[in-house]
Amino acid sequence: MPTVIACKGVSKHFLIGVNRMPSLKSKFIGVFKPQYRDQIRELWALRDIDLEIQAGESVGIIGPNGSGKSTLFKLIGGILRPTHGTVVTEGRIAPMIELGVGFHNEMTGLENIYLNTSYYGMSRKQTNAILDDIVEFSELGEFVGTPIKNYSTGMVMRLGFSIAIHTAPDILLVDEILAVGDKDFREKCLARMTELQRSGRTFVMVSHDAHEVRRMCARAILLWQGRILADGPSDEVVDRYESLNTKDSVLGMLSQPETQAVGGP
Ligand SMILES: Nc1ncnc2c1ncn2[C@@H]1O[C@H](COP(=O)(O)OP(=O)(O)OP(=O)(O)O)[C@@H](O)[C@H]1O
Ligand SMILES: [Mg+2]
Repeated sequence: MPTVIACKGVSKHFLIGVNRMPSLKSKFIGVFKPQYRDQIRELWALRDIDLEIQAGESVGIIGPNGSGKSTLFKLIGGILRPTHGTVVTEGRIAPMIELGVGFHNEMTGLENIYLNTSYYGMSRKQTNAILDDIVEFSELGEFVGTPIKNYSTGMVMRLGFSIAIHTAPDILLVDEILAVGDKDFREKCLARMTELQRSGRTFVMVSHDAHEVRRMCARAILLWQGRILADGPSDEVVDRYESLNTKDSVLGMLSQPETQAVGGP
């Protein structure tokens, strides 16, 4: 099978502000006394990631909070650029990474469908052909006529997911958004994703639900503080993850206050 996602030596660096004295008073003092202002700390959200995903694979990305899963998705989806390394993808990607991204709050559900499909390069005529299916799958009924700002979180997810799967993507990236769906809708989404897998689409998901990863993905990749700790059959990788102590792992990403060097990973 051809490779559809290839990450080579990928690292992603962020600079983040950390307040040394997080009280309101010290924030005020910081305005006049620069030595008490927030300091900048550096963070390598991903380090030296080598990864290949073949067409038709179903892959689960797992790991503790802050381990770099969403950052990896944003790099694959072309939303962020790597600091080092290269990300090459083949085919059309439907990135379902953050709820509501790509939606306009003041526009109705229907208007947002046309807006979103245009991002996927679809014409109005092409959208008309799938419009009813999108609305029906979302089960939003008359709500499609109201502005998105009046939607609940799960309703936004329903619309986003329905649009994405009906645009027939080659690669589907799903980052935890299903977590906000109710039981029946999640089940329906998982069934639809299984159909997509069977039709040869590539499917990569981030989930904190071990059962979901075992069920949906043949392969899993465990990220730990921005690095790949394990990559293999999902049962084995999920077992490995469950045996780890994730307490405090999120803080391991930050540089120490003294070390301000901005070097490689
Ligand atoms: N735009 C940004 N600017 C600065 N730091 C960021 C940015 N995006 C992510 N980070 C940092 O990168 C690290 C990885 O974040 P990421 O969102 O990829 O984690 P995650 O594995 O998806 O976590 P979660 O399970 O909580 O969703 C975190 O420490 C986070 O603070
Ligand atoms: Mg995330």
